[in-house]
Amino acid sequence: MPERTWSYEGYDPAQERLRESLCTLGNGYFATRGAAPEEAAGSAHYPGTYAAGCYNRLTSTVSGRTVENEDIVNLPNWLPLRFRARDAASDSDPDGGTAPGPWFSADDGSLLEYRQVLDLRQGTLTRRMRLCDVQGRRITVVQRRLVHMGDPHLAALRTEFTAEGWAGELEVESALDGDVTNSGVDRYRDLNGRHLGRWHTGATDPDTVWLECRTTASDILIAMAARTRVTRSIPTSVRLVAGDRTATHALRLPIGPDGPVVVEKTVALHTSRDPAISDPLHAAIGRVRRAGDFAALLASHEAAWERLWQRAELEVPGEAGEVLRLHLFHVLQTLSPHTADLDVGVPARGLHGEAYRGHVFWDELFVLPFLNLHLPEVSRALLSYRYRRLGQACRAATAAGRTGAMYPWQSGSDGREETQTLHLNPRSGRWLPDHSRLQHHVGSAIAYNVVQYGQASGDTEFLHTAGAEMLLQIARFWADKAVWDKEYSRYRIRGVVGPDEYHDAYPGAAEPGLDDNAYTNVTAAWVLTRALELAASLPAPRRQALFERIGLDAGELKLWEDVSHRLRVPFHRGIISQFEGYGDLAELDWDGYRARHGDIRRLDRILEAEGDTVNAYQASKQADVLMLGYLFSPTELATLFQRLGYGLDDDTWRTTVDYYLRRTSHGSTLSGLVHGWVLARARRADAWKYCQEALTGDVADLQGGTTAEGIHLGAMAGTLDLVQRGLTGLELREDELSLDPAPLPEVSEYGLSIRYRSHWGIGLTMHAGSLSISVPPSDEPPVRIRLAGRSLTLPPGTSRTLQLPME
Ligand code: BGC
Repeated sequence: MPERTWSYEGYDPAQERLRESLCTLGNGYFATRGAAPEEAAGSAHYPGTYAAGCYNRLTSTVSGRTVENEDIVNLPNWLPLRFRARDAASDSDPDGGTAPGPWFSADDGSLLEYRQVLDLRQGTLTRRMRLCDVQGRRITVVQRRLVHMGDPHLAALRTEFTAEGWAGELEVESALDGDVTNSGVDRYRDLNGRHLGRWHTGATDPDTVWLECRTTASDILIAMAARTRVTRSIPTSVRLVAGDRTATHALRLPIGPDGPVVVEKTVALHTSRDPAISDPLHAAIGRVRRAGDFAALLASHEAAWERLWQRAELEVPGEAGEVLRLHLFHVLQTLSPHTADLDVGVPARGLHGEAYRGHVFWDELFVLPFLNLHLPEVSRALLSYRYRRLGQACRAATAAGRTGAMYPWQSGSDGREETQTLHLNPRSGRWLPDHSRLQHHVGSAIAYNVVQYGQASGDTEFLHTAGAEMLLQIARFWADKAVWDKEYSRYRIRGVVGPDEYHDAYPGAAEPGLDDNAYTNVTAAWVLTRALELAASLPAPRRQALFERIGLDAGELKLWEDVSHRLRVPFHRGIISQFEGYGDLAELDWDGYRARHGDIRRLDRILEAEGDTVNAYQASKQADVLMLGYLFSPTELATLFQRLGYGLDDDTWRTTVDYYLRRTSHGSTLSGLVHGWVLARARRADAWKYCQEALTGDVADLQGGTTAEGIHLGAMAGTLDLVQRGLTGLELREDELSLDPAPLPEVSEYGLSIRYRSHWGIGLTMHAGSLSISVPPSDEPPVRIRLAGRSLTLPPGTSRTLQLPME
């Protein structure tokens, strides 16, 4: 892969937290925000380190109520490395002439130059700064860090100090700081954030300090060891200080015109969740002791990244390509091959910040279809996270008086419902009831991913065991939740919330929930249909054993068949209604609100602060009905509607798209993505506007400050899939790849390679209106491809270029 960088010039405290998120380094096991090691946490800086799946539960009192929340834990900060210059010590004055000045900080005006570069190929963050202290001493600092992609327990920080025309001493403190809390999200400031306790610190070897502590409720033991070494200089003094919650390594180094001084900090992290260790502390100390120097670590880290990039090639020229590579980098840092060894789900905000508490939502729907075609073992692990929590989902259904599996809207450690019961509207300062847990459609997202994964990987072992069990239990929940309504002669699913979170109740209703959410019902019908198909295709002994185990019989399957044909989909004025009664809600004065407030993405907050409610209006946060056009091709969608006894012609779909386009505020980053995808597939000129919104959602922080609290992983992965499946029209059919490229003039050239079943690296390249397909040499069977009504068979080691018809 050629040089690829993402950089920032100059230092801007107001932008710092955003940059920290976007410059996070991680390896799937843990990640650390791109915070400045010399700065203490404060308004501009928030150094956060998060290990995948490391959660803790705390109670807090807000608005007179006790609430319990489970959060991904901000682990001890391994970054601290502060420094200051001082006069050289002499025998008569060991403290060094004048007293040292303050520790250097970018916020105190001593910064002369600043540049920070994220090297995506190498997986490093490099900061270069020139500064001048109060005594007029100038220093150039070049600092590079990595979070090791090969050895997921290691990180390293190399800092090179050059004195410009003076000689003296440099005082450096390298620390592990356990005195941290979860305080990265302002909205959560009233909540208890103290997740760590029982700290112990110590020093070992001549150059290593360590720190261990435990999470207060989940009792996860966390251990870090930091080795700090100096190259090209001999320290005049070294102190290892084990404090209450911080372990510090203090050094004084001679520095002068004869060349730079280099300090290398190498850190190992282990937790009691790790396999193959005796205890985290000894594992961390042993690992750091064995680690090579920075150059050796960088070489093995780069090699690991090189291998990873080969598995996820995506080339798009221009600015869109740059952003896509950054997205790919962050997706791979959150969900890497190491994830395959972990019991974790897809964290909606990456491992990049504390928003949404590190919870797992339906966002995997936007992530797995991309991963399936590159890192199928990671997709399998992410689905296994759901499978291990199937029992919990079945208990949740039972508690709600239902059968089957009711997966939680927000999932964390054990798969119970983690959605908060109250959320803060920062605009009004009010804590309000949160009903988003009624988004039971999350179950259909899991089912969709099971089917997609099975088709992409051909992993029938998973599909016929864990996959089948999840699919059947989710289908079972829908069949039970659907209630026959004589008046409509239809099954109805009532009291739910769809993807559009703005609508959670009918105006004035005593109970939350809406009826006949079209997205929920159509996807439920799809799940039932796929579950029936899969049940029928299971080898007889497997089917019998599974049916016996989960107590499923032919009678239930008959009900599923019936429900899958007769679920209700509401329409109004020839448009698919988001839910029953959506079309009767008031029309919002969109122009008026835009004129008054400018950005109205969070219309729900604006209206609530005015004493009104978004529930009263035909105004949606994000794609809801239109999600159907994201998940299903027009043919598939028409077939689904037909099965349900409804006609869905092109006109109805087009008017439906236009109707919701005018009534959506895009208060979620997922919204631009879905709209861009749907419009691009429909070959509409306005597609790019929405694709661009999805592309710039994080890099330009379009949701007004939210990226600083963590990236939006679903939207990032979704943009990659927009090229991979959206623009190519790639569908995985029974044993064939179907392609139907849709032109998007702004992204008219691209190249990618995918893993499809046993074929590694099938290449798809779009260039000058022609699509080239190549199948790498192997002993595997030929690949069947369907393109523009033609069927092709490409044996391994061959390629074909096809001119696409002009649109
Ligand atoms: C969106 C949800 C999404 C969640 C986590 C919310 O703003 O409305 O659809 O699952 O963010 O990303």
